[in-house]
Amino acid sequence: MFWQGRYTVKGRSEQFREVIEGSARVLVSTGAITKRMEAFYNPIMEFNRSVTILFLNSVPQERLIVGLPMAATGVRGIRILKEVKKRVMVHFNDKSEIATKIIKRNLKLNKLSAGFTVSNLDASIFMLGSKGFSYLDIDPFGTPSPFLDSAVRRVSRQGYLGVTATDTAPLAGTYPKACLRNYWAMPVRNEFMHETGLRILIRKVQLIASQFDKALEPVFSYYRDHYYRVFFRARKSKSAADGLLKQHGWLAGCRRCLRRYHSITPAPSKCECGAKLNYAGPLWLGKLWDTSFVERMLKHADSNTKQFLSTIYEESKVNAIGFYTLGMIGKVLKLSELPKKHKLIEKLNKAGYKASPTHFSPEGVAIRGNPQLKPLLL
Ligand SMILES: C[S@@+](CC[C@H](N)C(=O)[O-])C[C@H]1O[C@@H](n2cnc3c(N)ncnc32)[C@H](O)[C@@H]1O
Repeated sequence: MFWQGRYTVKGRSEQFREVIEGSARVLVSTGAITKRMEAFYNPIMEFNRSVTILFLNSVPQERLIVGLPMAATGVRGIRILKEVKKRVMVHFNDKSEIATKIIKRNLKLNKLSAGFTVSNLDASIFMLGSKGFSYLDIDPFGTPSPFLDSAVRRVSRQGYLGVTATDTAPLAGTYPKACLRNYWAMPVRNEFMHETGLRILIRKVQLIASQFDKALEPVFSYYRDHYYRVFFRARKSKSAADGLLKQHGWLAGCRRCLRRYHSITPAPSKCECGAKLNYAGPLWLGKLWDTSFVERMLKHADSNTKQFLSTIYEESKVNAIGFYTLGMIGKVLKLSELPKKHKLIEKLNKAGYKASPTHFSPEGVAIRGNPQLKPLLL
């Protein structure tokens, strides 16, 4: 039986309803999904939360101290408490007092009485006032930038940090000035702009972490439903941090011949074909995934996540930079008909290239190196 109706919190009467997500049953605000929701719940982010559960079930640690500085309804933490098969302590926090009341109400609704704390602080104060977390989840509205400093300081030496960014418009090049201000990098609007956006986000987190001699290596990253998500593995090590910084650089794709360029400087300025190159960066040029980690996650995947995880698993083995789209291939090669994705991948593999579909786009193909597409398609 689902409950729906008004609930009074701190003298304010709000409309709430119950929803079921994974093994959690939670009370959430009704109405349009906006920042003004007191107990913010976005059903589209169920996938994001399910991947978080997969991720935590795949880390080697058997005991986890989880920090949720922006916990909203508490659905993520309740799912972690119920679905992660480890000894887990979850510290819920939200700056909205009503949200923290709802979190407590939701914990009761799920018959949870131990293994958590709930606080009502600003996220940075919550993190800095803590002793540290083996997993910290930064899940704000928009950019995570204001929270990164406190987050990287409080993620434990061998811990993990999950970061969501929903400000895809700046990161993917619609608002380059906002990207420069928030992420200290120039985006480019092109067919692989969401890969660029993800790589810009990764570099920003790594730069902040390196100030504290911490190396944050991405182990699982993706773009989906208008948000970016990255899980980092932390290591306290000056040399490891230096090693990551060496993998920051620039990325361009020629619009005339599709050739990809990436290096630690934005050079050459012109493509081999003579066209001017438009570089995005600085950004992370290293791996977006740890393949063995993805393999472990895949073992825990269910019908909702398996397909996505399988695509990323294949993509992680290819480990390409700057994916291609069938549309751009068709346009540049002036094809009367676009090639079928699986046929193109087959041809590329036969010709000795590493290629796979990419999760970034249904019409995307990840290809290692610069393939000679013309002879394969004409
Ligand atoms: C996108 S929602 C979080 C969703 C939640 N993590 C989930 O999985 O359902 C963002 C939450 O951050 C809270 N918030 C915004 N700014 C904050 C701040 N400076 N400190 C703490 N919480 C904050 C909001 O009240 C809101 O509940």
